[in-house]
Amino acid sequence: MEKLFVIANWKSNPPTLQEARHIFNSVKKGLKNKKNIEVVICPPFVYLSIVKSQLLNVKLGAQDCFWEEKGAYTGEIPALMLKNMGAEYVILGHSERRKYQRETDEMISKKIKAALKAGLKVILCVDNISQIKKDLKSLVKKELANLIIAYEPLFAVGTGNPCSVEEAKKMKKNIKKFLGENFFILYGGSVSSQNARSYIKEAGFSGLLVGGASLNPKEFIDILATLQ
Ligand code: PGA
Repeated sequence: MEKLFVIANWKSNPPTLQEARHIFNSVKKGLKNKKNIEVVICPPFVYLSIVKSQLLNVKLGAQDCFWEEKGAYTGEIPALMLKNMGAEYVILGHSERRKYQRETDEMISKKIKAALKAGLKVILCVDNISQIKKDLKSLVKKELANLIIAYEPLFAVGTGNPCSVEEAKKMKKNIKKFLGENFFILYGGSVSSQNARSYIKEAGFSGLLVGGASLNPKEFIDILATLQ
């Protein structure tokens, strides 16, 4: 069976370290025998180190990074710093950052370059092909080996209104047509244990980016279980 990726995006949750530990430990316990699934937990920056100290069968990811390696950039977290902290993945171009932080494609493109250079695997979130074109404009094919695309239609992110499997499948096909058959394409947007399996088995995605549902350990474990 082909390897699948399931990315947990905790966004700006939970409010306490105690709750973060609880979610993480519960998820870890439920993860036995999921050998064909690469589970990546992306907590807020401040919880990266506690999650890292307990990693066993999951990988660690961040939700953003900065393009400079170091320097006077108050509040920014460089890609290299994340890599040195033990992160293997970084989510970039998330629609919430495009909206609330006014991230432009130019900024996202610089972040992708820096993250790949630092040795991180990039999960690039996009709503359409035009974003892929702009975000990857300055990269050459061979730089893209560690790039995964997450198709996240805007209307589906955080709304409880998931994309239909047929629509998602169409978009996956278009992205593969544009980028190449070998790319891993994930689906994200209101994923739950009710719909997770159909994006993989019917639409043929290589995995899922799970937001809200990843904060509920039981629901998250149920999602993984439906993919077996
Ligand atoms: P959601 O978020 O699963 O809550 O819709 C998806 C995401 O984080 O991109």
